[in-house]
Amino acid sequence: MQRFEGNNASLEFLAGRLKAGEVVALPTETVYGLAANALNPTACRQIFEIKGRPLIDPLIVHVGSQNAARRLAEWPEKALLLAEHFWPGPLTLVLPKKKLVPDLVTAGRDTVALRQPAHPLALRLLTGYDLQLAAPSANPFGYVSPTTLDHVEASLGERVAWGLEGGPCQVGVESTIVAVTKAGEVGLLRPGGVSVEALEQVLGQPVNDLRRAAPDHVKEGLAAPGMLARHYSPSTPLALFAGGETPAVGEGEAIVWQKRPASGPAIDGQTFWLSEDGNPAVVARELFGMLRRLDERGFPRVWFELAEDSGLGLAINDRLGRAAAKR
Ligand code: TXA
Ligand code: MG
Repeated sequence: MQRFEGNNASLEFLAGRLKAGEVVALPTETVYGLAANALNPTACRQIFEIKGRPLIDPLIVHVGSQNAARRLAEWPEKALLLAEHFWPGPLTLVLPKKKLVPDLVTAGRDTVALRQPAHPLALRLLTGYDLQLAAPSANPFGYVSPTTLDHVEASLGERVAWGLEGGPCQVGVESTIVAVTKAGEVGLLRPGGVSVEALEQVLGQPVNDLRRAAPDHVKEGLAAPGMLARHYSPSTPLALFAGGETPAVGEGEAIVWQKRPASGPAIDGQTFWLSEDGNPAVVARELFGMLRRLDERGFPRVWFELAEDSGLGLAINDRLGRAAAKR
């Protein structure tokens, strides 16, 4: 992978590569993405090949503006309201698609997932060169998402020609995905960087958790196929425990707390924490890096303390649950 600093010349060059149908690893505020021109199915096909991702798993299309997004989907009122409040940012809207979007991108569905990312370099690429970019997280299918360009290079460096340096991702977990139907129903497909509480406050209506309710389109794991139980998985076996509990950590195993322990275990090379004070924004930002670092250490097992199941904690616990799921 050839790495580029985020200046005008780099952006100009990489935009040219994208228009020519090539794939670029680029930063967003959530995680790094593996991007290709969303309107070019041949370009997008490479994303699936590079990631080893099944073709039934649709891609998120990144846009530079709400206007660009209108060309790609139908916009129910509630979706407009959400985009108004949360774009650019870590919210993906699944909306009825328009013809312009290739079937390969949506895996043949009649909906498309759209997001305007907040990372300044991603935004400059999208708006400055009128690009619409399909981009999943830039990791091999089923592995932990990358929050630095080094992470991308470590697991996909041989297979991706171009990478844009954008620093460590500030959110650190992927976007929240919600589906908005023409009838105005809003359902959660994946918790992420925008909390459900924030969505509900703006909407003035509940957001149904479609992960549990399992209506027709979620059965068979079809609503968001990437939400397979085992996802984001490191090779080290993980075990989870509820906040405040003290698990039976075995010989040589590691333990990761949400915040620095006030007393108890000393700094012993096996005790870690994701934040000083338990701030969920910090925990989310550090989580994937910690999973990757510990995966390199070869611990027989790593114990993770769960977050509170609200706000960003919902996304943190979701990712921990998937990372720990048995293969
Ligand atoms: O934060 C993010 O969302 C990152 C950055 C790069 O934007 N992207 C990301 O993409 O996480 P990916 O492909 O790793 O996860 C996208 C999820 C998948 O689970 C996919 O199944 C789901 O979105 N998805 C995409 N299109 C969909 C659709 N039309 N209906 C339902 N789910 C969809
Ligand atoms: Mg992913």
